[in-house]
Amino acid sequence: MDIGALVSAVCDDLADFGGAVSYDCEDGIVVACKRVAMKRAVLSLIENTVKYGHSAQVAVRREGSWASITIEDQGPGISEAELARLLLPFRRGGGEEGEPERSGHGLGLAIAHAILGNHSGGLRFNNRQNGGLIAHLSLPTFAEVT
Ligand SMILES: Nc1ncnc2c1ncn2[C@@H]1O[C@H](COP(=O)(O)OP(=O)(O)OP(=O)(O)O)[C@@H](O)[C@H]1O
Ligand SMILES: [Mg+2]
Repeated sequence: MDIGALVSAVCDDLADFGGAVSYDCEDGIVVACKRVAMKRAVLSLIENTVKYGHSAQVAVRREGSWASITIEDQGPGISEAELARLLLPFRRGGGEEGEPERSGHGLGLAIAHAILGNHSGGLRFNNRQNGGLIAHLSLPTFAEVT
């Protein structure tokens, strides 16, 4: 499956619902993946950036034998300590310092993490220097055995 095409389709869907999402996806990067699961993982991460980080910039690139997907925003980010916690199911941030409680179940990150793991891939996060979060997804590219 062309991972760039999958990711741009998810971005287009979110943009149709008013999400501020821009993307730059290389095409022709083929990965072996369960389409519905991978769409769910990507959708939930991009949804988070729109929900907590206001807008998302998404990119898909080839890096050697890996496909790299980055999803970044200019929101408040998540501290390293908090991140380890938030990957657990039913953990949610926010609500403190007068922040309004937002809807959600706290499952998105846990599910995305599990889905990437099931595809021999990875999911990690970095805070941007000037604020905001970057999610890095990696997936092995599909190479035909000859
Ligand atoms: N891009 C982001 N910037 C800042 N905080 C974030 C970001 N993404 C997630 N978070 C924080 O991590 C928490 C967990 O996110 P997760 O997606 O697992 O759950 P949720 O969005 O609260 O609920 P669900 O995804 O199940 O609807 C969120 O409640 C939010 O506090
Ligand atoms: Mg979420």
